[in-house]
Amino acid sequence: MGNPIKHSKSPAIHTMFAARTGESVHYEALLVEPGDFRQAVDRFFLGGGRGLNITLPFKQEAWQLADRLTERARLAGAVNTLWKDDEGLLWGDTTDGVGLVRDLICNHEQSITGKQVLILGAGGAVRGIIAPLLEQGPAHITIANRTESRALALAELFDLSGTVAACGFAEVVGPFDLIINGTSASLQGECPALPDSVLHANTVVYDMMYSAHNTVFIQWAKDRGCIGIYDGLGMLVEQAAESFSIWRKIRPETIGVVAKIRSGLI
Ligand code: ATR
Repeated sequence: MGNPIKHSKSPAIHTMFAARTGESVHYEALLVEPGDFRQAVDRFFLGGGRGLNITLPFKQEAWQLADRLTERARLAGAVNTLWKDDEGLLWGDTTDGVGLVRDLICNHEQSITGKQVLILGAGGAVRGIIAPLLEQGPAHITIANRTESRALALAELFDLSGTVAACGFAEVVGPFDLIINGTSASLQGECPALPDSVLHANTVVYDMMYSAHNTVFIQWAKDRGCIGIYDGLGMLVEQAAESFSIWRKIRPETIGVVAKIRSGLI
């Protein structure tokens, strides 16, 4: 469920998961009007629906609607996966953060443990990835945002062990082992204004956004000779796989699905 929803690749991704696991799944995109979200969720489950993915602009509303939240969803303040348990309670989880972590570790063989991490942005997308990143035991996380106060608020929320700090882009002091772009700047064809000193020879750069062409941020990293550069397609497929395994208790293979989307076959 979302609005807009036509662009969503999730129906194609879940249909491929179903074919690969032999599960009988019908997954379609549902356009929901603002103000009708709660009723739409009720209608869906009353009609026999078994599980929902929620995208913009309803992720916070889904968080409020859920009877029970996983710990990572509670911290994220947003929910992208809903299902009902045997007692009829509505559960909410968020799979974006674990999707990012799995893409980095399993698909790209990049460890987060002990690393100096820079996260760009302090919106809902970034809030959802901090707890799963912290679970990997990075040496330190810096959250940098155009509006510094939002970064500070996020750092305060998650800094239980002195591992998370915040600043504006101009104050970032590098270098970092891993830089993750969680801003929506690419949508406006812009790139967060970072000094080149954030990079060292082996800095890994990850854009949570995916587009068929290089995002401005990916191009920024390419222009500076970075070697490990990844976009968010793997994260998109891994968050879907996590939702699928919550609903169906079986984890689909993802590499082939990423390859199909990358080659433009879907
Ligand atoms: P989302 O849920 O996708 O995270 P959001 O909550 O609107 O959406 O957050 C968007 C993030 O991208 C914010 O960190 C925003 O910075 P501000 O907090 O200063 O608004 C960041 N962002 C958007 N456009 C940007 C740009 N052109 N340059 C840098 N950061 C940008």
